[in-house]
Amino acid sequence: MTNEINWGDLTPELFLKEYWQKKPLLIKNALPGFQGSIDANELAGLAMEQEIESRIISKQPDNKWQVSHGPFDDFEQFGEQNWTLLVQAVNNWSRETDQLISLVNFIPRWRVDDVMVSFSTPNGGVGAHLDQYDVFIIQGEGKRRWQVGLPDSSLETLLPHPDLKQVSDFTPVIDEVTEAGDLLYIPPNHPHKGVALENALNFSIGFQAPSSQDLWSAFADKLIDNNRGEFRFADKNRQVTAEPEILSNDDVKSLTDFMLNEVNDSTFFPLFIGQYLTQSHHTLELLIPMEPFTNEQVKGFTEDNSIEFLPVSGIKSLISHTPSSNLFINGDVFQLEEETLELGKILASSQPLTMEQAKSFMGCLKNNQLLTTVLNKGYWYID
Ligand code: SIN
Ligand code: CO
Repeated sequence: MTNEINWGDLTPELFLKEYWQKKPLLIKNALPGFQGSIDANELAGLAMEQEIESRIISKQPDNKWQVSHGPFDDFEQFGEQNWTLLVQAVNNWSRETDQLISLVNFIPRWRVDDVMVSFSTPNGGVGAHLDQYDVFIIQGEGKRRWQVGLPDSSLETLLPHPDLKQVSDFTPVIDEVTEAGDLLYIPPNHPHKGVALENALNFSIGFQAPSSQDLWSAFADKLIDNNRGEFRFADKNRQVTAEPEILSNDDVKSLTDFMLNEVNDSTFFPLFIGQYLTQSHHTLELLIPMEPFTNEQVKGFTEDNSIEFLPVSGIKSLISHTPSSNLFINGDVFQLEEETLELGKILASSQPLTMEQAKSFMGCLKNNQLLTTVLNKGYWYID
């Protein structure tokens, strides 16, 4: 499979300018030859696992919607049509699916959350709904009719089942049948609805955009965990007031600044945000060795050309240079130095580390230690 989008008349620059967070877009045959990164049987296998979040949404003959939660051990009861199986974060279990994320490498990786995969039987779909995040939906095998509208405050919120939020009918601006290799981009809060015409697989690269509420709440937890922010508001230069019942504008400003001081801390906030953004929202298959490896053992592995160092599929990592270089993996932080920056970049790239690369790093103890640590944490493993 190609790992680039066939943009046609567009470019990533034009896409960001004209469409990203603004307008939905369908690109026909954006991925020529793409049928799927996993097939329906493999997807069904994942939906049988306890730790993998899955749902089946079906429409009953009386038009009532039904939602069943996985794990599933039998799909036959659902019949041959009118249902969709949705499996969250398939990229945490399928490396090929995780690699679909590289299609959107023109957007920083921290913005990407996961790849959800759905398998729909004829007439299957989840109904018209809104999502609060951007999504790129790639059509794998099969055909689906996708309708996408524009944000519309007059749409009614419907709850045909306690676990299923939908919206009332909308006027589509895109109404097309998608076929294998087609790519649909839907910005947040744009009503959309996909109905399968035949058995169909859809791969949804979903983005993450934290709410301010989530950030403040996680930041408060971080302050508490680090015993920070415990010192008290101070007002040494207070002047006499003739109106003691008034909370003055100056005092409101001082209290605001007092709180913002924590967020504006140029060391603490970047550390918090890197850790926050690399936390996984779904179970990962961390591969922690039974016995921690020693630096010497890891160095020894690089003598064997048949093995490869791999990141755990779906693990989130990034590098930040604010205020100094740090590698964040799965909510953990590793300080980088000049010598470890290059290895850190590879570790953050989610690409395998070739034995040749690994070998070249082992001459430096700091690189040896960094690789040993990420292996011992189970974030990377040897294959
Ligand atoms: C699906 O693939 O059926 C659901 C994708 C979505 O609309 O969020
Ligand atoms: Co959706």
